Amino acid sequence: MSDDMANCGYKLASVLLTRGEIEDRIGKIASAIADEYRGETVVFVCILKGASVFMADLIRGLGASVDARIDFMAVSSYGNSDSTSGVVKILKDMDSSAEGKNIVIVEDIMDTGLTLNYLQGVIRGRSPKSLKTVVLLEKPDRRQIDCQLDHVGFKIPDKFVVGCGLDYAGMWRHLPDIWCLQEA
Ligand code: PRP
Repeated sequence: MSDDMANCGYKLASVLLTRGEIEDRIGKIASAIADEYRGETVVFVCILKGASVFMADLIRGLGASVDARIDFMAVSSYGNSDSTSGVVKILKDMDSSAEGKNIVIVEDIMDTGLTLNYLQGVIRGRSPKSLKTVVLLEKPDRRQIDCQLDHVGFKIPDKFVVGCGLDYAGMWRHLPDIWCLQEA
């Protein structure tokens, strides 16, 4: 264990979702999205950094019937390490224009919903042909604002989770399973 892991105040407690469960669910979502956009061009916008692992799995499940393109945004929420303030700053914007395109926002988790609500507003303001949102995880108990989710991988309890792209202080993103943390 690294010094950072040993000193961060948390440790891995138990597996909430196994890699197999995650793979199965993402495969089903990818098939559903492929059916929705058959023969069309779609820009999948990964919200860095947490969604990078989910994005990689999702696009590989789409198949050749969709002309999938990828783009990336990075945002900072001005929150502390484990909560979101709702004030969102765009650190890195999409490279391509969203105007007239089918856009799918790809996020790892919706917690309060403030980040996604903000991002949806920004992209909607760019006049896309369509806009959908897919999240791997949703915490319904934490929701503060209503925002549209078109595909949700898993609804989870209000627990601190890491793995499959999700982090605590930058750590544990690389774990294939999704784990709950507990205080060390
Ligand atoms: C996480 C997640 C969302 C946001 C969700 O990002 O990826 O962007 O928090 O929270 P909300 O629904 O309460 O707004 P984080 O700030 O942890 O950045 P990361 O993806 O780089 O880990």
